[in-house]
Amino acid sequence: MKINNICCIGAGYVGGPTMAVIAQKNPKINVTVVDINKERINQWNSTDLNKLPIFEPGLDKVIAETRGRNLFFSNEIEKNIKNSEMIFISVNTPTKTYGDGKGMAADLRYVELCARKIAEVAEDDKIVVEKSTLPVKTAAAIKNILDETGSGVHFEILSNPEFLAEGTAMRDLEVPDRVLIGGGQNKSGNAAINALVKIYSSWVPSENILTTNLWSSELSKLVSNAFLAQRISSINSISELCEKTGADVDEVAKAIGMDSRIGSKFLKTSVGFGGSCFQKDILNLVYISKSLGLDKVSEYWNQVIILNNHQRERFAKKILTSLYNTVAEKKICFLGWSFKKDTNDTRESAAIYVADLLIDELANIAVYDPKVSMNQIFNDLNKLSTREKNKNEQFLRVEPNPYDAASNSHAIAILTEWDEFKNLDWNKIFNSMKKPAFIFDGRNILDKNKIEKIGFVYNGIGKPQ
Ligand code: UDX
Ligand code: UDX
Repeated sequence: MKINNICCIGAGYVGGPTMAVIAQKNPKINVTVVDINKERINQWNSTDLNKLPIFEPGLDKVIAETRGRNLFFSNEIEKNIKNSEMIFISVNTPTKTYGDGKGMAADLRYVELCARKIAEVAEDDKIVVEKSTLPVKTAAAIKNILDETGSGVHFEILSNPEFLAEGTAMRDLEVPDRVLIGGGQNKSGNAAINALVKIYSSWVPSENILTTNLWSSELSKLVSNAFLAQRISSINSISELCEKTGADVDEVAKAIGMDSRIGSKFLKTSVGFGGSCFQKDILNLVYISKSLGLDKVSEYWNQVIILNNHQRERFAKKILTSLYNTVAEKKICFLGWSFKKDTNDTRESAAIYVADLLIDELANIAVYDPKVSMNQIFNDLNKLSTREKNKNEQFLRVEPNPYDAASNSHAIAILTEWDEFKNLDWNKIFNSMKKPAFIFDGRNILDKNKIEKIGFVYNGIGKPQ
């Protein structure tokens, strides 16, 4: 099947950048990203490239090159589904907050809505590509909806999970470790797989394009994220042991990472992993295993989450105990709110949980983050906490720079590893703070010796205490 038009439903962190790169590398294919959120589409169409709805280094350049040429952002969902031979589903699949599987299973209602919409408007054969992370066997459900409610046209379902990491999305898309495409193991399935392989082949070497059956592809995405998150929980568990024994977790990570069988990536201890994927995907794996009666498998993966929650709580508790067991009415400065550097995404960021725990102790929190808006910070906190909204406003404020955030504070907590935090005028900050001035480095980005020389009481994760 020749693909001239692609439609992607969902103009989010995945849909936007992925389609921008597909359009850039395939100038003869028209790519339209649609979304039910009008404001989001307007932002994607904004002439000021600083106003794109997501911040991702290098994205603005690709948008400038492709938008209006063969990349379009639109609210006309039906028309674009109808016009396209290939439709990507890239809507969000959050953890269910209600009913069966609450807190664990993926909420597939948006995906199902997309499938129904596609079935309703399709007038000719379509290839439907799952981009959203989904539980294994979702493709079967999508296929069923399409076949039962469609008007007799043929639908072929592919799974093409996205492995981009935020902050490095453009590079991850440009030179992916692998592109994974799962599809039906029959003639029409193979034809659909080949159509998508061809699109990626415009820039990805063929040895990096892996084709599998549908279920392997769906499961690989979950397992990939689970393995990555597991490494972080593993090193975080060791960080606690280091603090008790006098070992230094960064030294341990380096030493084990030099074993080529282990490898050095994803061994950076932290205040806990965040982001839209890790927790959600592991919970998914836990839920699926449990549903299939695999209790031991389910418990095994659940431990990764338990450890991550523990790491956030442990960090908040350390601040509390170090500040003489009370933070009531003390000012604590938060540097960073996003779940990692170089993104304005805050989903599941450890900062939200740590702030909530400290506000429970009546601390006053002053936050500075270079990319996250005040609105977003309050939304995050209000969503997590059971406190009334105005209570959070009493306890937390957002500052436009790190110096105001730190001034008069008792302690600084580093929650995100933004590069700019390394080069602040730490002498100036020290002089503006209450004494003793504490630093709780949740990312171990500062040089302990330098910081202690200035006079700070430095406390890094997994560092000798
Ligand atoms: C996506 C996937 O959906 C998620 O499962 C995967 O793990 C990561 O990538 P992301 O792009 O980060 O998530 O989500 P988000 O930024 O929330 O974007 C989803 C978009 O879909 C939103 O703009 C939302 O408005 C849109 N949407 C949602 C629709 O257009 N239609 C719907 O029915 C639901
Ligand atoms: C992740 C996967 O990496 C990506 O392949 C998938 O498509 C989506 O989920 P993302 O969540 O964007 O990407 O970022 P990632 O770089 O994986 O970081 C996730 C969290 O782990 C962040 O909070 C980060 O700070 C933390 N992390 C990462 C650590 O604490 N230590 C590490 O060594 C690496």
